[in-house]
Amino acid sequence: MHQHSALKTKPDLQQEKILTGDRATGQLHLGHFIGSLQQRVALQHQHRQTILVADLQGLTDNGHQPHKVSSNILNVVADYLAVGIDPSKTTICLQSAIPALAELTMYYANLVSVSRLERNPTVKNEILSKSFGRAIPAGFLTYPISQAADITAFRATLIPVGDDQLPMIEQTNEIVRKVNTIAQDEILLECKPLLSKTPRLPSTDGKGKMSKSMGNCILLSSSEKEISRAVKSMFTDPHHLRVEDPGRVEGNVVFTYLDAFHPDVGHVRELKQQYQEGGLADGTTKKILEECLQEILKPVRERRERFISDKSQLIEILKNGSDKSRQEANQVLDRVKQAFGLDLFQPA
Ligand code: TRP
Repeated sequence: MHQHSALKTKPDLQQEKILTGDRATGQLHLGHFIGSLQQRVALQHQHRQTILVADLQGLTDNGHQPHKVSSNILNVVADYLAVGIDPSKTTICLQSAIPALAELTMYYANLVSVSRLERNPTVKNEILSKSFGRAIPAGFLTYPISQAADITAFRATLIPVGDDQLPMIEQTNEIVRKVNTIAQDEILLECKPLLSKTPRLPSTDGKGKMSKSMGNCILLSSSEKEISRAVKSMFTDPHHLRVEDPGRVEGNVVFTYLDAFHPDVGHVRELKQQYQEGGLADGTTKKILEECLQEILKPVRERRERFISDKSQLIEILKNGSDKSRQEANQVLDRVKQAFGLDLFQPA
């Protein structure tokens, strides 16, 4: 009995189809690396996996500056390849190159109320932080619907996410159930989140999320010098004035990063203890962290430089992935159109 329920709750990972996506609004950084990219590299060996470069979702708050999106599409693809995502194992595709995603969004939009969209906690927070005022772009408010189109079009069942994306999964499954009710058949699949175990990496100033414009993040493409500068300026314990003073480890960005990146957990534990007792300089902890980050990022940066210098190769990879994804998405679109009875021109 016990064994049976354990079997039931454990997803059969081999069978799951995985979808992840990134808004193409900037280069990827260390937070992406530790939170998601490394996991994708590992997952691609056991699963069918698609990664969506979400340029249209990126436009939902950048309609007035589309260049911020268009100029970053190939940057993001180069970042993927640099960390070891292998296009022969993982399908990398471009959202705007798959019209069925936009079409599905139009069908689903009729099944979701405006108040439901306004209640989505992630959208709610983003609206506040982006200070749209009364001018919330309709595309922004409705992006959870478009994300449901992404997930269902690829028949994805497992979505690796941070906890901010849980409301998107929930809304997707609501739409799935509504469509299936209309179709009187399980034409769409419900999906489950695969929650990332690594906590969100703070910005180097300790003030919140990393953002390139704030100059508080380390990009996968950051040079040796930029990494060094970023680590030297990291937020530590403002009350740790003299080396011999006891220092605080909580909220100390250097230790947060050491926890995330240093391979020797025992050594980090010793450093923390010494820091808390007093007698360990911030300069020393920063030096240890810098060495570790330089070692991790050097090969990534070098690979990235090679990929970004061959744009036609990047375009080819993205085009191949998009061609394949378009076929998958069109099949789902056909079934959804059938469900709505709008399949007049489909062969019987
Ligand atoms: N919303 C995701 C983000 O902000 C990006 C995304 C778009 C996505 N479509 C997706 C993630 C589909 C998972 C599945 O990072």
